[in-house]
Amino acid sequence: MGDEKVNIHRGLVGIHFDRTQTTYINGKQGILEYRGYSIHDLAEKSTFEETAYLLLHGNLPNKAQLDEFDKILRSSRKIPSKVLKIIETIKSAHPMDVLRTAVSALSAFDKETDDKSYEATLRKGIRLTAQVPTIVMSHNAIRQNKKPVTPNPELSHAANFLYMLDGSIPPENTTKLMDKDFILHADHGSNASAFAARVCAGTQADLHSAITTGISVLSGPSHGGAAENVMKMVKEVRSPEKAKDYVTNLLRNKERVMGFGHRVYKAEDPRAGHLKEGVEALGKEKGDPGWYEILVAVMDAMKPYQRRGIHVNVDFFAGVIYHLLGIPTDLFVPIFAIGRIPGWTIQVLEQYEHNILLRPLLHYTGEHEKQYISIEKR
Ligand code: ACO
Repeated sequence: MGDEKVNIHRGLVGIHFDRTQTTYINGKQGILEYRGYSIHDLAEKSTFEETAYLLLHGNLPNKAQLDEFDKILRSSRKIPSKVLKIIETIKSAHPMDVLRTAVSALSAFDKETDDKSYEATLRKGIRLTAQVPTIVMSHNAIRQNKKPVTPNPELSHAANFLYMLDGSIPPENTTKLMDKDFILHADHGSNASAFAARVCAGTQADLHSAITTGISVLSGPSHGGAAENVMKMVKEVRSPEKAKDYVTNLLRNKERVMGFGHRVYKAEDPRAGHLKEGVEALGKEKGDPGWYEILVAVMDAMKPYQRRGIHVNVDFFAGVIYHLLGIPTDLFVPIFAIGRIPGWTIQVLEQYEHNILLRPLLHYTGEHEKQYISIEKR
């Protein structure tokens, strides 16, 4: 009993559990494609709206299709006042906890919550893509005892997100950077949060449940939480000259350097370079290049670890960008979630289309045939 030979794949490392038509990742060569299009082309030439359409519909939209998709997004941004009340009630919680609770609460107000057809799930995913930034920014206002900024239908997804921070229309270059950040975060294959969303969808649970699951899983520091921790690290390092000692000390204590390493990429994360350029430019523009210099010094200190496949990941540069844009540190993970809604949605759709309950096995290594002793005799 229990002594049969079993191959254990801890962490499901290297296991393909299904096929996908959405995102291609080549971890050895550092390649990422959404629907066959290089992440580099999308980051440089596309918009978040177009990329979300691409992920959700499988092809790049023509002008009329994009306009229609964008119109739906812009008109779906508001959230019910009862959800705002829930946010008010829990306003002192971490923004990821608030986001998780608010998305879960939205299911009670969505007219199609129980409709798991392809079309209804797609519509719900588009609505959630539009609503999640409003949740994050409304909470940010409410916790400062301010009135949430009403979403502005004149603005793009990224511009409206920044607009809701303080009610001022953001400049074009910062909007473009935010837009790029959302594109880079829009999907990433079967990462922990998307896998968890698929496990949820595999039981035929609805989209709001699956996305609530995705948000829960994203919150951990090994996944989306890294950007927040990179910012904490950069503040602790304080100057480029101190980076080497700081990193050496962390590694000596067997701690992880946040923003480095990836389960799949053993070459540089192809998303990271786009944000590196962004931090450098934004730091110069804001007259605050010091953060970028610290990041570069940490990268230099980590160079010897490249041999072991430990390179920067997308979260390494993202945090400093958000900081330079005046975004509070605890909103960094929610920003990741904002970008990821189309990705979670399409993965849930793929799971529904070709569904199978995701139910692996655990190999039991405990004891057997123990004698039950009544509580009085223990
Ligand atoms: N700093 C130092 N050492 C590291 C790091 C790191 N950031 N990442 C991996 N390693 C080392 C480990 O200590 C381990 O060494 P060992 O073999 O001597 O024990 C080896 O590399 C392999 O690490 P694993 O944890 O087995 O690799 P895994 O694929 O499970 O980890 C993970 C991936 C969780 C992302 C890890 O690299 C990590 O903790 N990074 C820091 C957190 C982070 O930046 N997360 C964001 C990921 S990207 C994203 O979610 C968008």
